[in-house]
Amino acid sequence: MKKTSLIFAALLAPGAALAWPWSTDMMNQPSIKPQEGVMTPFPSRSVPVTGIPTIVANREETRGMVNPVDASEASIKQGRNLYMIYCAVCHGRTGKADSPVSSKVGAIDLTDAYVQNDLSEGWLWGTITFGSYVMPSYGVVTEEGGSNDLSVEERWHVVNYIKHALVEDAAAAAVAAK
Ligand code: HEC
Repeated sequence: MKKTSLIFAALLAPGAALAWPWSTDMMNQPSIKPQEGVMTPFPSRSVPVTGIPTIVANREETRGMVNPVDASEASIKQGRNLYMIYCAVCHGRTGKADSPVSSKVGAIDLTDAYVQNDLSEGWLWGTITFGSYVMPSYGVVTEEGGSNDLSVEERWHVVNYIKHALVEDAAAAAVAAK
C-alpha cells in the first residue's frame, strides 16, 4: 500500500488514529505534574492558615487530648447535623441505640453514663477519627476501610454535640413521644 493510501485510511478511521505522536504534545511540557517527583518542603516557619494541627498517630494517644473547639451553640448545631448524617444510622437519632440496625451491629447507647462521664472528649474524638472494633473511622482511611469524611474540626463539633446536647435531645424526644 502506498504511503498516501495509508494516510487516507487513517482519515477514514478516526477512531484508530487517536494516538498520533502529536496527540500528547500539549501535555508533555517541562512543568512538574501532580504526584510527580518529590514535594518541595514548606518554607521554614510556615504555618497552616486553616484547620487544627493534630499530632496523634492512633486512638490510644487521643485519650488526653483537649477539645480546642468551644461548645458554642453554633458548634453544637453543626455537631447535631453531622451526627444525624454519620452516626444516627447505628446509634439512633437520639443516641439511644434504637435504630433498626443498632442491635444488629452492636452499637451502644451514647447517652448513658459510660459515654457521658467515663469517656473523655479526646477519646470520643479518637473513636470518631480512628473507629473502634466494629465502628468505622471518619478521620482516616485504614486497611479495614473507613473514611476521612469528617475534618478535624467537624469531629470536635460532633464531640460537643454528644457531650453537651445529646442527652437533652433524647429526653425531649422521649417526652414528645408520650
Ligand atoms: C456502622 C455503625 C456505626 C456508625 C455509623 C457509628 N458507630 Fe459508633 N459504634 C458502633 C458500634 C458497633 C460500637 C460498639 C462496638 C465498637 O466499639 O466498635 C460503637 C461505639 C461507639 C462509641 C464508644 C467507644 C468506646 O470506647 O466504647 C462511641 C463514642 C461512638 N461509637 C460514637 C460514634 C459517633 C460519634 C459516630 C458518628 C460519627 C458513630 N459512632 C458512628 C457502630 C457505629
